[in-house]
Amino acid sequence: MQIKKIYTFLLVLFLVTTGLKSIAQLPKETAEQKQKRMEWWTNDRFGMFIHWGLYSLPARHEWVKKNERMTNEQYQKYFELFDPDLFNPKEWAKQAKAAGMKYAVLTTKHHEGFCLFDSKLTDYKSTNTPAKRDLVREYVDAFRAEGIKIGFYYSLIDWHHPDFTIDGNHPQSAKTDSAYDALNKNRDMAKYRKYLHGQVKELLTNYGKIDYLFFDFSFPGKHGKGKDDWDSENLLKMVRELQPGILVNDRLDLMDTEGGWDFMTPEQFKVSKCPEYKGKKVAWETCQTFSGSWGYHRDENTWKDNKQLLELLIESVSKGGNLLLNVGPTSRGTLDYRAIQHLNGMGEWMKVNGRSIYGCTEAPEGIKAPANTLLTYNPATNRLYIHLLAYPLETITIQGLNGKIKYAQFLHDGSELKMTATHGYWVKEDTSPQDVMLSLPVTKPNTEIPVIELFLK
Ligand code: GLC
Repeated sequence: MQIKKIYTFLLVLFLVTTGLKSIAQLPKETAEQKQKRMEWWTNDRFGMFIHWGLYSLPARHEWVKKNERMTNEQYQKYFELFDPDLFNPKEWAKQAKAAGMKYAVLTTKHHEGFCLFDSKLTDYKSTNTPAKRDLVREYVDAFRAEGIKIGFYYSLIDWHHPDFTIDGNHPQSAKTDSAYDALNKNRDMAKYRKYLHGQVKELLTNYGKIDYLFFDFSFPGKHGKGKDDWDSENLLKMVRELQPGILVNDRLDLMDTEGGWDFMTPEQFKVSKCPEYKGKKVAWETCQTFSGSWGYHRDENTWKDNKQLLELLIESVSKGGNLLLNVGPTSRGTLDYRAIQHLNGMGEWMKVNGRSIYGCTEAPEGIKAPANTLLTYNPATNRLYIHLLAYPLETITIQGLNGKIKYAQFLHDGSELKMTATHGYWVKEDTSPQDVMLSLPVTKPNTEIPVIELFLK
């Protein structure tokens, strides 16, 4: 009897300890510690996304393999021809910096499965193409040298790996359950999982300090994949161990796990207010393209213009978020001429107006944005920024701020803007004594979106 009890006790102890081992404990952190860890990113607001891979050769979307249901064999020609002879990451880094971008995120592997880095775990990598180099290494060195923070994008999805089970997003997706069963008969997700964890380990071990990691993406449900497929908790635990300061996005399917994500990533989506999760405002970043594709797409022509792009950036900050703006370099390794034009255009604006972006966030509650404007606010300096999307004629009225402003000026040239409490007979009825009116020059200043800087009392 006694012996039986001891056995049962030992068995339970064994099960509990082995069971616990596989359930990861994500590091605990207070809200203040998290805020501190994310401080650089919250301050920097503007980053460059880079989607580069074999899909730059077909040049018709990074999902071309899926869209055209290509097999590995059919896709192989791009691997054999990948030769970015004009690739100069120093130039990319300079362009990002000149645009005012403070961090960058490169696709180390996209859904196609091709690795831009010298992974020991696969032959399907840039070192085995005519490129013959570890392109991630060159990116890291060049961007770091420009003082730009280093981010990696890593695709959880893999359309090349033989053990990655075929699902609804796969180029060889099927129509019936039995067809899926047949296709996946010899595929073993456990093996793929090991590969995925191993590659993330390589990326976070071999390239020094990595500031940011973008996993892409989970799609739980029938013929989909989620946290159990990736073993997301253990994956994230490893990430946190290898790079304790790193920021990780929200696509591991760990939304309801404490410490399972750092910020939300609304994609190609202009939010109307600061996003919330379970009733609480969260850190967020929208990723957006210049035109309608992430990878280089020669014939896609829906390019946003300079003003729309600036508005996207300003609007993100005005709602407490970041903008990660994408370039899709060509297979030669150059940026599209239109991307360069827009980066320059944004840079020109940022050079003189960046103060309304960096370190800024939503305006304090209760301050109302005048018509056709977007507000941002720097809590450290107590300055409020009014972005004039449509340039008003001669005056602009700001409700409720009379007596609360120390000084007002245009940001781009630091020239004073005079304040008056009311504006004579004609508008007396529309304004209240709490409002303040600024006089503006008739001619719109020579900057795409003029910004008024208010030094608050
Ligand atoms: C989507 C797409 C992908 C792109 C990503 C960027 O998840 O699958 O092609 O890389 O969005 O956020």
